[in-house]
Amino acid sequence: MNFDPYALATASLRRLDPETAHRLTLRALQLGLGPQAPAHPPRLATHLAGLRLNNPIGLAAGFDKNAEVPDAMLAAGFGFVECGTVTPRPQAGNPRPRLFRLIEDQAVINRMGFNNDGLESFIARLAHRKRRGPGPVGANIGANKDSQDRIGDYVLGFARLFAACDYFTVNISSPNTPGLRDLQSHQALQDLTGRLAETRRDLVAATGLNPPVLLKVAPDLAKDDIGDMVETVVAAGFDGIIVSNTTVSRPVDLQSLHRQESGGLSGKPLFALSTEILRQFHLAARGRLILVGAGGVSTGAEAYAKIRAGAHAIQLYSALVYAGPGLVSVIGRDLSARLAADGFSTVAEAIGQG
Ligand SMILES: Cc1cc2nc3c(=O)[nH]c(=O)nc-3n(C[C@H](O)[C@H](O)[C@H](O)COP(=O)(O)O)c2cc1C
Repeated sequence: MNFDPYALATASLRRLDPETAHRLTLRALQLGLGPQAPAHPPRLATHLAGLRLNNPIGLAAGFDKNAEVPDAMLAAGFGFVECGTVTPRPQAGNPRPRLFRLIEDQAVINRMGFNNDGLESFIARLAHRKRRGPGPVGANIGANKDSQDRIGDYVLGFARLFAACDYFTVNISSPNTPGLRDLQSHQALQDLTGRLAETRRDLVAATGLNPPVLLKVAPDLAKDDIGDMVETVVAAGFDGIIVSNTTVSRPVDLQSLHRQESGGLSGKPLFALSTEILRQFHLAARGRLILVGAGGVSTGAEAYAKIRAGAHAIQLYSALVYAGPGLVSVIGRDLSARLAADGFSTVAEAIGQG
């Protein structure tokens, strides 16, 4: 059997309360103690809205809320890394405990509530990156809980970060900021995307830059709303959609005692729901949007299923809690083998193949 120091470290960290374990993980990554992934198979090289990726496996938002370790995570093998959610002003988030491992279910429930250091320190960290890793770094932007003008918060984050990151995710789907998900309703989404599109036009003209913009949605959407959301996003000229954030639903077969904790559920039990919603977005988008599949990916088979359901790339977070960062290379190798076995020479060829 191979000795994997990172798997051992992950197992030891699991004895600690999850937030302490996460803080220690970030510290170790900052100190350069993270894994250095071997090169991914060339078959996995792909594009996401014009961004070049070594592989389509991204780190989902929430792991690196304050942009402390994007390059360490790129070195660990992720093809792209999404930092945030960042809000204009720093905020403490909800009282602890607010992060729970559902070990029997290979799942996580969180109600962190956008705890983060705020926009200015996020920008400063991105500006002072030392060894830039081999992949894009995105900024996931949100609104402060006590904001009087939530759309204004998104516009501010977008404008301040415009030249500092490689792509944007507009997060309107966290269940842990009361009322935030109301921005997914028809009129609010039109207002939000319209204001951001206007700001984008001005910023493109002023800077010559044009980073891609994605919207991140919840998996708890009514089927009938999906077509309407797609049309709004296309009309605003956004590049794509991340499907999905955590769910407020609780599958009946959850085993863990923590299953009734309030917050968003992620990990294995989210896979089927988020992949089905992804498939519906793929059908509604008819090739007009880039889709990123997130929710319950912990194996190459699951990454491949998301791609075949319509994802151009995937993201994961919860699986790291159980398997540690060495997992990215394992998923990459398995995904490459599956593409090859089905006769696909690129990731792009397999997108939406059912
Ligand atoms: C502890 C935790 C914190 C998260 N924080 C954020 C966040 O700040 N912004 C966001 O858009 N998504 C956040 N997410 C959601 C993830 O980015 C991802 O969409 C979701 O967990 C599904 O993927 P997974 O099953 O691979 O974890 C968080 C997830 C977890 C587990």
